[in-house]
Amino acid sequence: MKRIVIFASGSGSNAENIVNYFNSSQIATVTHVLSNNEHAKVFDRCERLQIEASLFDKESFVKDDTVLNFLLVEADFIVLAGFLWRVPSKIVEAFPNKIINIHPALLPKYGGKGMYGMNVHKAVKENKEHETGITIHYVNENYDEGAIIFQASTALSENDTPETIATKVHELEYKHFPEIIEQVITKHG
Ligand code: GAR
Repeated sequence: MKRIVIFASGSGSNAENIVNYFNSSQIATVTHVLSNNEHAKVFDRCERLQIEASLFDKESFVKDDTVLNFLLVEADFIVLAGFLWRVPSKIVEAFPNKIINIHPALLPKYGGKGMYGMNVHKAVKENKEHETGITIHYVNENYDEGAIIFQASTALSENDTPETIATKVHELEYKHFPEIIEQVITKHG
């Protein structure tokens, strides 16, 4: 059974969906959630789901090797589900093809530093896009630039607001992200 460690910075609705999906999987299970945000709602979700969750700071992520060493012992695959920090190269290098991120837009559009969550949906709305979607990709040292694994799109109308766009994107995320993670684990496990 492969062990998935999830990184999440906020609400954690994707994290919860992934935990639930892998509860009935034969190939992988979520063993731990890590967050850089002590106020993140994902901690409440983990308590309810009875998943171990830990807080970490930038020092232990970037400067010393606390998080890296934890992952080397505890993780086979790493999933970023609404995680907002850049992953340091020492972690990227230690887990080739084993760190997967979801981005709430059709990369390469609307990616890069500062492009996360509602910022993305507001920009999509401002630019009067006719579609948006999700991108699931491997993680490298640069924000939103790793090789793309999967994309799915959804149509937008002029009546859509950043909030309705977020809802449409979340629906795509819940539908596809766990299955794509499972495919990657099957391929690289
Ligand atoms: C998700 O829409 C995810 O794609 C996005 O944050 C949201 C987290 O929602 N990630 C990024 O913007 C990363 N650049 P959640 O906490 O409810 O899963």
